[in-house]
Amino acid sequence: MELRGNFTSRIGFILAAAGSAVGLGNIWRFPYLAGQNGGAAFLLIYLIFIFLLCFPVLVGEIAIGRSAGRDAYGSYSLLGGKRWGYLGIFGILAGIFILSFYNVVAGWAFGYFLEISFGNLLGEPDFGKFFGNYVNDISDNLWFSLGFMVITALIVSRGIQKGVEAANKIMMPALYTILILLILYSLTLPNAWAGVRFYLVPELNEINSQTIYDGLKQAFFSLSLGMGCLITYGSYVGKTQNIIKSAAIISVADAMVAFLAGFMIFPMVFSQNISPTEGPALVFIVLPDVFRDMGPLLGRIIGGSFFLLLCFAALTSTISLLEVPTTYVVDQLKFRRTRVVWFLALLIFILGLPTMFSQGMIPALNKLPFYLNRDWLSFVSDMCDISLTVGGCLMCIFIVRQWKIHNMDAELVNGNPGYMNSFMRKYLHVMITWVCPVLLGGLSVLIIDRYFGLGVFF
Ligand code: PFF
Repeated sequence: MELRGNFTSRIGFILAAAGSAVGLGNIWRFPYLAGQNGGAAFLLIYLIFIFLLCFPVLVGEIAIGRSAGRDAYGSYSLLGGKRWGYLGIFGILAGIFILSFYNVVAGWAFGYFLEISFGNLLGEPDFGKFFGNYVNDISDNLWFSLGFMVITALIVSRGIQKGVEAANKIMMPALYTILILLILYSLTLPNAWAGVRFYLVPELNEINSQTIYDGLKQAFFSLSLGMGCLITYGSYVGKTQNIIKSAAIISVADAMVAFLAGFMIFPMVFSQNISPTEGPALVFIVLPDVFRDMGPLLGRIIGGSFFLLLCFAALTSTISLLEVPTTYVVDQLKFRRTRVVWFLALLIFILGLPTMFSQGMIPALNKLPFYLNRDWLSFVSDMCDISLTVGGCLMCIFIVRQWKIHNMDAELVNGNPGYMNSFMRKYLHVMITWVCPVLLGGLSVLIIDRYFGLGVFF
């Protein structure tokens, strides 16, 4: 049997977990959701969810993983018996489905990076039409998403230290650097401050039930919570590390990138007098307009850097998404890591094909029947959003009813001797015992009702 290995240092773990958290969710999804939900109002709700509701779940997941030292399934079943192991399986499956569509969107970003930097994308007359054709161009899509999956698999197959940790140590600082440079540039654009105002001055009457659902699902997705990713990474963390401190840094790093991404994008959008409510197309259709106006050379440099940034962010997340089922199979079946990685990568790539075909190529996938009533990509992503909040809720119930909260305390004391007498301990107890399960459970039910238009509560 191969040794499992560990992250070599605290910073290695923090960068890898922050790398998992920071992804397309922060740079692609957060800005368009914020644009659709009133800008600053959404930012406020999102930050409240991240720091109040998600932080305890994040700590709980890492503690479970480090205590058991196994994959998501193995950890739940070791600490709670076989029946709870199904919760781990549920999370692993959610991760597999997330990766199946995530990799396709990452492929679009990769293609745009190449098209802007080396092709003629900025010479296109109509970016909306270009994007529509692009996502339906089967050969480009196949190659780019296959390329992305291969790069992910190459890194994951090298193991936790030489692959996951090493790649994140290079990509995360690069990502922050590109982001800051792009913000500095976007603030110099005409009308930039209107964008900043939209993004920073909340209109509280913009907050409605949609803002709250979108904020919650985004906070969970953004921190990679509710599906065992942090259990998996937590299982590679040494006992001397302070989990609470690490979780705090991971949350801040993740929220910071989402915050900065908005800071970069809204000044650009407002400088073009474009509506911020464009939705998923914001990054692929609206921003190229901005880049074209910069002139041929600068447009290529800034536009290329932006999509490179998106690729880095996506890659650090796809790595973690592939790591979850990999650790599961390696831990449970004791197969060689390299083989497992390539097998899973191929399987998940194939699972992603319906997503690729759902943007117009196959009409049945473009509009699913009955209550589903949306395209396959939106359907899978909606299902995954639901499974994350449900998974987070069940994890809290697991800690309180099965594992017992004093065992979580015992795990959190390692590396943090003052924990037992801290305010943080009381806070975590109240949140994990009451607030998180009740709110997450209640909101999950409302979200399911809303997604399927069941009309039970609305
Ligand atoms: N947190 C990632 C993002 O915001 O893009 C998405 C993600 C990665 C979700 C890993 C879940 C996960 F396990």
